[in-house]
Amino acid sequence: MRERTILLVEDEEYLRENLSEILELHGYKVLAVPSGEVAMETARKRSFNVVLTDLKLPGIGGIEVIQSIKNINPDTACIILTGFGSIESAVDAMRAGAFTYLKKPFEKSELLVTIEKAFEVHSLKEENSKLKNDLKKNHTSAIIGTSSEIQRVRDLIEKVADTDSTVLILGESGTGKELVARALHYGSSRSNKPFVPINCGAIPEDLLESELFGHEKGAFTGAIATKVGRFEAADGGTVLLDEIGDMSPGLQVKILRVLQEKEFERVGGVNPIKVDVRIVAATNQDLEKAVEEKRFRKDLFYRLNVIPVNLPPLRQRHEDIRVLLDHFIENISKRRKKSIKGVTPEAIKIFESYDWPGNIRELENLVERLMVLKDADSLINHKDLPDKIKKPGTEFKIGEVEMPNDGIDFNAVVDDFEKNLILNALKQVNGVKKKAAEYLNINRTTLIEKMKRKGIRDSLGPADSLD
Ligand SMILES: Nc1ncnc2c1ncn2[C@@H]1O[C@H](COP(=O)(O)OP(=O)(O)OP(=O)(O)O)[C@@H](O)[C@H]1O
Ligand SMILES: [Mg+2]
Repeated sequence: MRERTILLVEDEEYLRENLSEILELHGYKVLAVPSGEVAMETARKRSFNVVLTDLKLPGIGGIEVIQSIKNINPDTACIILTGFGSIESAVDAMRAGAFTYLKKPFEKSELLVTIEKAFEVHSLKEENSKLKNDLKKNHTSAIIGTSSEIQRVRDLIEKVADTDSTVLILGESGTGKELVARALHYGSSRSNKPFVPINCGAIPEDLLESELFGHEKGAFTGAIATKVGRFEAADGGTVLLDEIGDMSPGLQVKILRVLQEKEFERVGGVNPIKVDVRIVAATNQDLEKAVEEKRFRKDLFYRLNVIPVNLPPLRQRHEDIRVLLDHFIENISKRRKKSIKGVTPEAIKIFESYDWPGNIRELENLVERLMVLKDADSLINHKDLPDKIKKPGTEFKIGEVEMPNDGIDFNAVVDDFEKNLILNALKQVNGVKKKAAEYLNINRTTLIEKMKRKGIRDSLGPADSLD
């Protein structure tokens, strides 16, 4: 078991020795000092689980001792010893960070119970700090990806998380904007305060103002009680203004004021309310264009755009697809308590060549759907994948027909078009005619017939007999 350490600060020698003895007899490791000065010097050199200090000391008093020890190590549990009639100072001591006080004279049993409680408080605090630290350390590890683009995003988050700078997160739908906003919050010293996401696009305009700023009782019909808005609820924490591009012009003015002055009024209220919130905004719109088109206030844009974080679409970082795939399979297996073996290389290729217009959310949803449908411990293979992702989009698009003024040769153009269709279909299925026919939804014999007529050689694929 770990040593249970106590720093005892007491100027009366008799009491100091007496208390030390009792505590040591009960297995605590006690260091007893006669003054606040010595206590502070000792606390700078080593830490203690619990501090038991007299309130009235000749030099530096007990309250100051507690304050400075808490500064050095906030997890220390402090108890103050007060003389007769000094209850008010005991209250001050509690404000300074003592968790309780003992009034002299006290019984031995009272002392021991209080000390035991102090150790409980200390270990809870320690555990809490550890969890918070883990959260902080891991705040960017939830953002998966090995591409240089995503690495750059993680680095930027590490740098700006624990500042109060406004961050504007830009990216297509499903690229992880909210995930980044959470990483910013949990990587900051605001992490034990609320993270409040507000979807500016989803709340009806007439409700948005009272939603954000709250309202006073009777401010409008239906306002039957005073309501605290999201900004107030987020005090000390972070507000994510999501879909900021969809915000009405009127509200843009009000948000600008919160950003500039850190204050606002509740709807129907007259007293300004001060809040301490960090603002993070996100949008999938091109805000600069919105500014040009006068849909979005320029001054608000500049206020928000202090630190822009650009999230590239998944199609620009194909190398992340595979790691994300593994990540989601692992996560979903845990959540659904159903594991699958993995994904066949052929299926991975298809995943990697699809464009993912819905980005990571689309990938995540598909993996979830596939895992629900598959039997436990099976492999996801290319046949399981929906046609939509199997068919490449524009890569094989057949060119447009030119229409010159002096007319075209219909038969030649159609012939050419058909030839291109067949060639591309063959290319797509590695020259396997049976598959090409399926792809084009025509008979295999029709395909072979057409190939002969158009002089398409068989050199693309395996021998006919193997088809
Ligand atoms: N890099 C990533 N690593 C792991 N999971 C991710 C990553 N990016 C996004 N996700 C996951 O994808 C889903 C969509 O992400 P998120 O909601 O943050 O996107 P968004 O950009 O806010 O989308 P929208 O514009 O549609 O609101 C979430 O479940 C999120 O956890
Ligand atoms: Mg979002």
